[in-house]
Amino acid sequence: MSTIALSTAYDVDRVRRDFPILKRSVHGKRLVYLDNAATTQKPQAVIDRIQRYYSDENSNVHRGVHFLSEIATAAYEAARTTVKRFLNARDEKEIVFTRGTTEGINLVASSWGRRNVGAGDEVLITAIEHHSNIVPWQLLCEEKGARLRVAPVNDAGEIIVEEFARLLTPRTKIVAVGHASNALGTINPVKRLIALAHANRSLALVDGAQGVPHLAVDVQDLDCDFYAFSGHKVYGPTGIGVLYGREALLDAMPPYQGGGDMILSVTFEKTTYNALPYKFEAGTPNIAGAIGLGTALEYVASIGPSNIAAHEHDLLQYATSKLHEIPGLRIIGEAAEKASVISFTLEGVHPHDIGTILDQQGIAIRTGHHCAQPLMMRFNVPATSRASFGLYNTREEADALAAGVRKVLEVFRG
Ligand SMILES: Cc1ncc(COP(=O)(O)O)c(C=O)c1O
Repeated sequence: MSTIALSTAYDVDRVRRDFPILKRSVHGKRLVYLDNAATTQKPQAVIDRIQRYYSDENSNVHRGVHFLSEIATAAYEAARTTVKRFLNARDEKEIVFTRGTTEGINLVASSWGRRNVGAGDEVLITAIEHHSNIVPWQLLCEEKGARLRVAPVNDAGEIIVEEFARLLTPRTKIVAVGHASNALGTINPVKRLIALAHANRSLALVDGAQGVPHLAVDVQDLDCDFYAFSGHKVYGPTGIGVLYGREALLDAMPPYQGGGDMILSVTFEKTTYNALPYKFEAGTPNIAGAIGLGTALEYVASIGPSNIAAHEHDLLQYATSKLHEIPGLRIIGEAAEKASVISFTLEGVHPHDIGTILDQQGIAIRTGHHCAQPLMMRFNVPATSRASFGLYNTREEADALAAGVRKVLEVFRG
């Protein structure tokens, strides 16, 4: 898509007006928020919906016959339907509300994994994974005497698909891959990886924390068995997320946690479990969070995931070219397919200092290992600075970032 076509089709100024926080200043400067991979800002529609829930509708769900409980339950279940449509899942039963991506992956590793992974079996992940898609599998492998295998990346930060295929063995029970890397931006060829896994009779889980915010996701088209994401990274509230799972798999899995709502009947001798998805939603859920997430996904759908992807791609290319002009700046991760995440180092300057000096200019980026320490090791860097763009960012903000980094150079090099 040409830039001109993009600027007429995508009204970023209008989008920005939906996000009240973007009007604020930081250290006397207009906020330039480029930490979207960590968490995104919330549109007024989400803020209003949560407020309306607490002002007008607050009650526990699934438990009461009274008026408010019925309203709260209807709103909570309507949010589930919104998620189902957004992911193109087949049925609401396949949509489990969680606290976030981390909990979704732990749920699968713990419930499905404990039952299906044994001594000598293997779990295959990739080198770009977030700790959330490493550690739960490590815990499982340690407990079961199974082996965690890791598909390597090339110097651009792309999965080497042939190596991935080579690492699939008759012992590989599940493959767990990130849709996109939070640290480098690499978009994994997940559809291909899932097909390879299935051809090997392995299941496939996708860590979609960085997929849903940047890409149109269709779980039937991907043909994944599990897909986990977090509300707060897709313009929704914190503390809420989703695990999509194929109905037959979820049905066969034991509960993850015990408590209220996940049971049909309890005696001291025996408990029978509730139907899907409630079997996996023990205790009072994050009702306001789920409702707010539903509104966030409606908001994203109203703009259109492919329009967002095109806008962010334009920003990625523009910001990448601006940063490339800066002497001593090295971009870590230059995959052909990237989400709008730019990780970089600056010769002779610690990322923490870059982050601090940019902050003084009102520019919020993230510095550190981005919960991907093995990936940092792969690229021989202890940490990077990371600018990550969302649907409300602009080319002017990319210019501000580049100008800010040049200021860092002035401070350090005089
Ligand atoms: C790729 C990826 N996976 C998993 C997570 C964990 O998400 P959460 O902390 O919301 O559970 C993140 C968060 O940064 C992420 O970027």
